[in-house]
Amino acid sequence: MDSKYFISGKSTITVPSKRKIKLNDLTDQKCLYLQTKQLSGCSIEEERKKLPVFNCRDRILKELETNDTLLIMGETGSGKTTQIPQFLLYSAHARNGVIAVTQPRRVAAITIAKRVAQELSTTVGDIVGYTVRFEDMTSHKTRIRFLTDGVLLREAICDRLLRKYSIIMLDEAHERTVNTDVLLGIVKEAQHKRCIQKLPGLKLIITSATMDIDHFGKYLNVRGMYLEGRTHSVRVLNTKEHQADYMHAVLVTVFEVHRTTPINHDILIFLTGKEEIEVLAQQIRQLAKINSVGSSDVRVFTLYSQLAQGKQLECFLPVPLNTRKIVIATNIAETSITIPGIRCVIDCGFVKEKSYSPTSGLDILQTVRISKAQAWQRSGRAGRDAPGTCYRTYTKEEMLSFENSAEPEILRANLTSTTLQLLALGINIQDFNLLDSPNVKCISNAYTTLENLGAIKSAKLPNITSLGRLMSQFPLDPKYSKLLLSAPTFGCMEEMLSLVAVLSTENIYVNPPDKMELATLAHAKFKSKYGDHLTLLNIYKCFEKTEKTKLWCHDNFLNIRNLIYARNVRCQLLEISTKLGLSFNSCGENLDSVRKCLITGLFGNIAVLQKDGEYLTITGRHRAKIHPSSVLHGSYKPKCVIFAEMVLTGRNFLRQVVEINSEWVEDVVPFIKDLSYINIEK
Ligand code: CDP
Ligand code: MG
Repeated sequence: MDSKYFISGKSTITVPSKRKIKLNDLTDQKCLYLQTKQLSGCSIEEERKKLPVFNCRDRILKELETNDTLLIMGETGSGKTTQIPQFLLYSAHARNGVIAVTQPRRVAAITIAKRVAQELSTTVGDIVGYTVRFEDMTSHKTRIRFLTDGVLLREAICDRLLRKYSIIMLDEAHERTVNTDVLLGIVKEAQHKRCIQKLPGLKLIITSATMDIDHFGKYLNVRGMYLEGRTHSVRVLNTKEHQADYMHAVLVTVFEVHRTTPINHDILIFLTGKEEIEVLAQQIRQLAKINSVGSSDVRVFTLYSQLAQGKQLECFLPVPLNTRKIVIATNIAETSITIPGIRCVIDCGFVKEKSYSPTSGLDILQTVRISKAQAWQRSGRAGRDAPGTCYRTYTKEEMLSFENSAEPEILRANLTSTTLQLLALGINIQDFNLLDSPNVKCISNAYTTLENLGAIKSAKLPNITSLGRLMSQFPLDPKYSKLLLSAPTFGCMEEMLSLVAVLSTENIYVNPPDKMELATLAHAKFKSKYGDHLTLLNIYKCFEKTEKTKLWCHDNFLNIRNLIYARNVRCQLLEISTKLGLSFNSCGENLDSVRKCLITGLFGNIAVLQKDGEYLTITGRHRAKIHPSSVLHGSYKPKCVIFAEMVLTGRNFLRQVVEINSEWVEDVVPFIKDLSYINIEK
């Protein structure tokens, strides 16, 4: 390919391929290409039989008869997630209870449940269902239940033996999320206890992409089982030079590929997050209109976790002839989700990662380099149906500095929530045998935070308090459970329920690029001078009072789907609060009590104005500006604020900010002695 951007790396992925096809053999390519497109035309049943996992069906079922734990590794797209649960459905063991399949991501749990329901000619909620936080699509008929690892962990709090389940499949184990890592320990223990108590047995299946997971084998004391892959060779190209603006490099590459490759070679682009993805999608659509290649067309799809549910499935749909499918995704398409027909991958080399700094004690959302394993995994997505090409918008030399594999989340995550959940299970995280032991400093920070929240008696003696036990009942981060538990004392329970519900949903604002001014004007009506939290509360209150919500949301540039979701979340939080016997009161217009109450849980997220107009966070001492999306972005700068999140994008930004009175801090959280010492910066 003639490109000023790319040099061909010799590094062709060498994976076993039964049909080695020469890249230059055009006839073969065409033939294969046709075959690829036919795949979506043939029946689902035929498609299923072509998946590598299909040949291993009997072996898996046989192994499961004699072993309690199986470790299955296979190329992404080989059919592990969608097929294995269906095999299990017919195993004798499944009669003892439901089959649970965990996913680290909610989008994956939902889309895969829908796919499996379709394959079984049923609807979601019948034999196949899913449960993600705040959303349960299962019924008494459900035999296969897809759920996020977080939901299963929460269920363990109510029943440590997980009696509802006969088989638990911990999927995407290579992702090493904290929840999956912890669940490994919990499920092993449940398995053991059920055996001792002569209860029906529990089978555990761990499935993973073919990454280095020897570690699992040793930890579980089982041998891994490999599924023969079917991936084809992928030509890998790196940029000749460092690309300062990878978004631009990606855009140039898209059109170069579009010009030079057959129209039906679909493209998958990896970017880091929603904003980038939407911007690029818009740019491609616009440019494609101007530069259409003959009669051909492009269809751009986006895929990221906050995407509306209906839209998530769109990228799986076939596109018309003479059309190129372009999917722009986050690392969700790395292993969790396989889109058929992809022949070209463009990888920006970055990923957005939430990490926690044990020294500064703050959660930070940051764009970081991917690991080498992730880079190879991303390239591999181009070779599922036929030989493909991967363009990396980074140099070969740059890649040398990438880590070999991503650090397990447990080594870099804030452990407050996990520590509390384990304590509620009667387990002290320090004594729990985990695949990788977390950093001692992270554990002690978690204990300190839990002590400050009143969830444990003291960081030195981590015994869960009755308040801590109540906190563990909410499917929320302990900071937010604390807000609900302290709200009755501040007289603002109704308001806090609404606020926490809205904060648990995705963005409720709609900002169409061509109607920015109108949208800003509409949103200004709800603005609270104190900041984003109270503005959100205003919007939610009006939404609840309105009858014609659809029209109202449209006129006010608000996302009705997310507001309805918030209402649903509120109902569930209300239900839990009622069960816990909390009293319901309202502060009416006196919203100071809401702001005071916020300090009880979010004391770690206080920032103080500095002379130069920036803010200094009291935890970790980071300097940051208020994010442009905040209603407090502008000329008026409150002295002291609480923020929801800190984002690092070259510069530090505080997202969702509300003004508080610094004098309140000492009253509400006496352990934060004095804010004045950071008031003045030298
Ligand atoms: O879990 P694993 O990566 O091994 O594969 P999978 O997720 O079970 O996917 C098996 C096949 O089903 C893939 O080739 C996907 O293209 C296809 N699939 C689909 O067409 N639509 C979905 N919604 C999900 C999977
Ligand atoms: Mg999978």
